[in-house]
Amino acid sequence: MARNGTAFSFALGTKSTRADVLLVPLAIQPAPAMSAVNAVDTLCDGAVSELLTVKAVGKDVGHLSQTTRSSGYRRVVVISLGKAEALTAHDVRKAAASAARWLITERVGRAALWIDGLTACGLDEPVAEWTAGMTLAGWQYAERKERKRDALDSVRVTLHTRNSGHGKRVQAEVREMAALCDAVNYARHLAHQPSNVIHPRTLANEARKLARSTPRLKCTVLEGPALRKLKMEGLLAVGRAGTTPPCLILLDYKPVPRSRANTVLVGKAITFDTGGYSIKTAGMESMKFDKCGGTTVLGIMKAVADLRLTCNVTGVIAAAENSITGDAYKPGDILTMASGKSVEITNTDAEGRIVLADALWYAQEKLKPTRILDYATLTGGVLVALGTACAGMMCNDDRLADELEECGRATHERLWRLPLWDDYRELIKSPDADIKNSASVRHAHPIVGGIFLKEFVSDKIPWAHLDIAGTAATENGDPVFSKGATGFGVRMTVEYLRRYAS
Ligand code: BES
Ligand code: MN
Ligand code: ZN
Repeated sequence: MARNGTAFSFALGTKSTRADVLLVPLAIQPAPAMSAVNAVDTLCDGAVSELLTVKAVGKDVGHLSQTTRSSGYRRVVVISLGKAEALTAHDVRKAAASAARWLITERVGRAALWIDGLTACGLDEPVAEWTAGMTLAGWQYAERKERKRDALDSVRVTLHTRNSGHGKRVQAEVREMAALCDAVNYARHLAHQPSNVIHPRTLANEARKLARSTPRLKCTVLEGPALRKLKMEGLLAVGRAGTTPPCLILLDYKPVPRSRANTVLVGKAITFDTGGYSIKTAGMESMKFDKCGGTTVLGIMKAVADLRLTCNVTGVIAAAENSITGDAYKPGDILTMASGKSVEITNTDAEGRIVLADALWYAQEKLKPTRILDYATLTGGVLVALGTACAGMMCNDDRLADELEECGRATHERLWRLPLWDDYRELIKSPDADIKNSASVRHAHPIVGGIFLKEFVSDKIPWAHLDIAGTAATENGDPVFSKGATGFGVRMTVEYLRRYAS
C-alpha cells in the first residue's frame, strides 16, 4: 500500500531507549499525585513539575505545553487530559491525536511516552485508546501528491512505565488496537481511491488481494452469469452502465466451523454515483465515497482476521457504478429483484437500496445468518436529519439496536435509531409494481430507504441498517480524523463482534 500520512509504531522502552521528545499525558484536575510527578521528573530533570508549577498546562483536553529544559530529551511535552473524573476514552484519543499532529508538524520521528499518567485515570484500556488516537490521526490521504522531501513517514513511540509487569499487559492491548486501526486506515485508503482507479472489478481485486494476504479469509466474486442465474436484476440494472460490470463480492471468515452462528455484513459499494438519468445536480464530486459501506465491510473483514476473533463472519459487498449510457436503467423501468418482488424505478439516484435489496436477499437465503448488519451511504436525508455527529440506524430488533448503540458509544461511532413503522410503507406504494424505489414527497428520506430495504429481510432475522452518508467522510476533518474518509463502523462493529458474537 502506498504511504498515506505518518505511520505510528509502538514498543515498550527502557530508560536507555533514545527519543527526541518525551510525551507526558496528565490529568491536571485534581492536581496529579506528587509521587507520579516525581517519577516522571526523574526522566526529564524536573521538567514536568516545572511545567505544572508555572501553570502552563491548560485545562482543555489535548492542550499541549512544552519546555526544552530537560536532560535526556530535546523537548518535554505535557498533554492535558483535563479533569480526571470526566475523562472519556474519546478524550484520550483526542489528546493522542493532538500529540500526533504536533509530532508530525515538528517532524519528530522518535518519541517516548510516559504511560502512568494515562493508566492512573481509571479508564479501561487507556494506552490502547491513546494508540488509536495516534494511529488514526497519523493517516492522511496524500498518495497522489508529489512527496515533500521533509515529510515524516513514521514515528516510533516507546512506552515508559514505573511498573514493568503492567508494561507487558499494556503491550498486548496496544498491539491489538494498532492492528484494528490499521484496518480502519486500510478502509480509508480504499475509500479514497477515485472512480478511475476503483470500479467494481478493481474493488473485487482488492478483496481478492486481502484474502490472499490473510489465509483465514476466503473470497468469492459473483459476476454476470452467476448474477443472472440468481436473478439479481436490481444489481445488474444499476451497474449496467458502469466502467466495468457490477459484482457481488463475498468474504468468508469461519474460525469456528462447528458453530452455526454467522454474522453477515452487507455493504453498499457504488464506486461512483452520478445519479444516473436522475442525474445529480449537486455534490457529485464527492461520490467516489459512495462505496464506503463496502470499504467498511472490507476493513471489518481485515480486522476480524488479523485479530483472530472467535466468531464466524461473512462480508457481502454489492459493487456497481451508477452511470449513464444508452442502455443504463431509466426512470419508469420495472425491475424484478432476486426475491421476486417488483420495483418501479421512480428515481435512478435511489440506486443504493436496489443493489442492497439483492445483496440482503442473498445474505438471508444463502448464508443462514444469525443476524445481518448493513452499511450504506444511502441518503443525503440522514445528513439533513442528524448531521455528521452520528449515523442513522434502523433496526427490526430492540436488543440488537441497544447492543450496537452501546458499542458505538464506546468507540465514538455513535448511532441514532430511527423508526421503521409500517406507516411509512405508504410512501413506497406503486400503482404498477409491488413497490417503488423513491417516494414522491420529501418526507422521512432515511426512513424511506430503511422501509424499502425491510421489504427484503424476514422479520425473523435480527437486522440493522446503518445509513452512514453523514459520517463516512468528513469535509473539514475533526480532532482525530483528517479530511476525507473515516472508516466509520469498523471499530464499532469489531467491538460488537467481540462483546456479543464471540
Ligand atoms: N449516494 C447517495 C446518498 C448520499 C448523499 C451520500 C450525500 C453521501 C452524501 C444516494 O444514492 C442518493 O443519491 N440518495 C438520494 C435518494 C433520493 C433520490 C430518494 C438522496 O439522498 O437524495
Ligand atoms: Mn444515488
Ligand atoms: Zn448512492
